[in-house]
Amino acid sequence: MTPRGKAIEVKEVSKDFGTFRALESVSFEIFDNEFFTLLGPSGCGKTTLLRMLAGFDTPTTGSIHLHGRPILDLPPHKRRVNTVFQSYALFPHLSVEQNIAFGLENLGWAKDRRLARTAAMLDMVHMTQFARRRPDQLSGGQRQRIALARALAPEPEVLLLDEPLSALDLKLRQAMRDELRQLQRRTGITFVFVTHDQEEALDMSDRICVLGQGRIQHLGTPNEIYEDPENRFVADFIGETNFLAVEVLEVTGDRARVRTPMGLEVTTFQKGAIAGQKAMLSLRPEKIGMEDQATGEVMRGRITNRNYMGGYTHYTVDVAGTEFRVSKRNAVTHGQSFEPGREVTLGFRQDSARVLGR
Ligand SMILES: Nc1ncnc2c1ncn2[C@@H]1O[C@H](COP(=O)(O)OP(=O)(O)O)[C@@H](O)[C@H]1O
Ligand SMILES: [Mg+2]
Repeated sequence: MTPRGKAIEVKEVSKDFGTFRALESVSFEIFDNEFFTLLGPSGCGKTTLLRMLAGFDTPTTGSIHLHGRPILDLPPHKRRVNTVFQSYALFPHLSVEQNIAFGLENLGWAKDRRLARTAAMLDMVHMTQFARRRPDQLSGGQRQRIALARALAPEPEVLLLDEPLSALDLKLRQAMRDELRQLQRRTGITFVFVTHDQEEALDMSDRICVLGQGRIQHLGTPNEIYEDPENRFVADFIGETNFLAVEVLEVTGDRARVRTPMGLEVTTFQKGAIAGQKAMLSLRPEKIGMEDQATGEVMRGRITNRNYMGGYTHYTVDVAGTEFRVSKRNAVTHGQSFEPGREVTLGFRQDSARVLGR
């Protein structure tokens, strides 16, 4: 792979609001042409971070560089960074094409260039036929496209998107995921996307920065943060998991041997485990087999609850007082379903579990 340029460098950025510390020494890099996502629960500091990149807010300490240049002294309009807000913030009294051209006029673009760029942007988001409409004559998805076109028109180096899909209904949200991703690929512009929706983040991102309580909890590819979470917060926030309190018997490099409350010994990959201390064994619901699929380490339990979800069925299984969530795909067999109350055998492969010390 050829080395890629750094679009953004955030170094040891902290942000205080009065005595409240919203961000604590956050450092990361975003590469050119990357679809980079800031993911975390409400209140973890995502918007605050985005506002500092855009120039609407300043860090208490730390530095931010855009393509190698420090930008903290630059006002928002001097940074080649644009933002798409959750509310779209379109000008209600202007037409669609005037909305897109507005920023270009402020930047001093000549009329011909402005018209050409506006037309190209309308075409890119498939909205040419709506050029003369006002925002209130558009659907939510169409407004979203115009907000994107307007933000991309001045050819920013980086596009910031703060929960841009959250106002749309489910079907449209899913379709817009693909559109956004394609738009990023086609324009080659670096996208910094903010969401609290882990599924959205997994689906769309090249890399995800998981934020929790103002700190970076994990930065990695979607696969890395799902399969090898850095800590319990990440394992719990991304997808769903079962935690078993275990005793750490031995740590050797990236592996640990642990004992579960049921007396089962498991050796698998670890992060942060210390021999002689307690840790959590994280086991994803889809990595647990039931009955004929129960291979590896097996346990006997009883089904206490069943949630039919169409494509999947989620079961709660009690194993000697510990509850496990197990998910099964309702595939070829038309979803052969186990009744609550039934005794079942569960099984998992040791290396599909993770030992987390923190
Ligand atoms: N202007 C402000 N004054 C005081 N506290 C703020 C301000 N902006 C954000 N906060 C606080 O900082 C934390 C992070 O907020 P925010 O970045 O909006 O979170 P997110 O976007 O992840 O939901 C929250 O606890 C919020 O209440
Ligand atoms: Mg926010």
